[in-house]
Amino acid sequence: MNVSTEEIYIAGTYNRYPIKVSHAKGIYVWDKDGKSYIDTFMGIGVLLFGHNHEKIIYAMKRKMEKYVHLSNFFLDEDALFVAQRLVEETGRYGKVFFTNSGAESTECALKVVRKVKKTGKILSFVRNFHGRTLSALSVTGFENIRSQFINDENVVFLPYDYETVKRFLEEEKHIAAVFLEVVHGSGGLDVIPQEIVQLVSDYKKEHGYLIIADEVQSGLGRTGKFYAYQYFSIQPDIVTVAKGIGGGLPLGACIMLEEYADVFKTGEHGSTFAPNPLALAAGRAVLEMIDDHLLNHVVKTGKYFEERFSNLGDVLGIGLMRGLKLKLSVDSKWIERFINQGLLVNILANGVVRFLLPLNITREQIDEVYKRFCEVVEC
Ligand SMILES: Cc1ncc(COP(=O)(O)O)c(C=O)c1O
Repeated sequence: MNVSTEEIYIAGTYNRYPIKVSHAKGIYVWDKDGKSYIDTFMGIGVLLFGHNHEKIIYAMKRKMEKYVHLSNFFLDEDALFVAQRLVEETGRYGKVFFTNSGAESTECALKVVRKVKKTGKILSFVRNFHGRTLSALSVTGFENIRSQFINDENVVFLPYDYETVKRFLEEEKHIAAVFLEVVHGSGGLDVIPQEIVQLVSDYKKEHGYLIIADEVQSGLGRTGKFYAYQYFSIQPDIVTVAKGIGGGLPLGACIMLEEYADVFKTGEHGSTFAPNPLALAAGRAVLEMIDDHLLNHVVKTGKYFEERFSNLGDVLGIGLMRGLKLKLSVDSKWIERFINQGLLVNILANGVVRFLLPLNITREQIDEVYKRFCEVVEC
C-alpha cells in the first residue's frame, strides 16, 4: 500500500514509521528489503516474550483448529485458567470480567464504581493513562488528548505532590474512587512516590472509596512483580490488565476483588467478542511462562539495563519497563535516525525514550540495543 492510499482511506491518528514490515521474530523486525531492526517497545508493550514466540503461536494454532469464536454463551476452558491465575496473583478473592482492550477494562472498572457509588469524585493523577474511549478518557490525566472530548467535573487530576493530595483527601467530602497507574507508561515512566500511595491507602477507610490499579502496561511481570502495585503496601479493589495478556491478540481483564467480585449480575455487563478463544489460548501460554524464575530475570536484566544506559541520562521505571531521559533533548523527529541504525524506538511527548523490552531478553541483547543506540546518541 502506498502512502497516498493510506492518506485517502485511513484516519490520520498516527504518525507511522517509514518502514514496510516483512516479518518479525524475537527482538527483531525485518523490512521488505531484508534489513533487520531491534524492536525496543514490542507493539507498545503487548509482546511480553518478543515477536512470534513459538509456544504462543503454537497455542493459537491449536486453538484455531478447534474453533475461533464461541460467544459468552459458552465457557472456554482457557478462560478458567487465565481468570484463576489473574485472581490468584492478587492473593485475594475475586472475579474476572474479560475485555478486548485496556480501555474496555477501565470502562468495566468505572461501571463497578458507578454501580456501587452513584455519586462522588474520582481522583486520578496527572499523566495517568487509562484509555481512549470516552469514559476511560475522562479519567486520563492528559489534558491535551482529553479536553476537547470530555471534561467530567467529577474527575479531579492531581500531581504527585504530597500536600496537594493530602489536602484533597482531607477536605473532599465524597470520593468514590482513586485511579492509580503506579508506573506511568505513556506518561513518562516515573514511579508513583511511596508517600502518595500511603496517603491513598490511609484515607480509604474514611472515604470508603474504591482503589483501581491500572496494570494494563505495568502488569504481568513487566516490572519484576506480577503486578507492579505489589511493590507498594496497597490493596486495590479492582485491577485492570490488557496488552500482553493476549500474547498479541486483543484481550483484557477487569479483576474485581473481595466485596466487589459479585457487583455485576446477569445482563449488567457484556461483550460480543471478549474473551476471544485464540487470545485466551495465547494468554494461557503467556501466563505459563511467567514464574518466579522469570520475575527474577526481569529484575536482574532490568538492573543491568539501568547500569548500561545510566551514562546517557536518567534511567526511569522498574524492571523491564524503562524510560531514558537523555542528557540531550530528543523528540519524535529522532526516530528516523534510530531507524537508520536498525533500532525501533518509541519517544514519548516529553522526550523520554520508552523501552518495553521482552521479559526474556538477554544481557547480550541489551548490549546490542546499547551499541545501536550509541551509533545515534554519543555514548
Ligand atoms: C496504563 C494503560 N491503561 C490503559 C490503556 C488503554 O489500553 P488500550 O489501548 O488497549 O485501550 C493503556 C494503553 O496504552 C495503558 O498504557
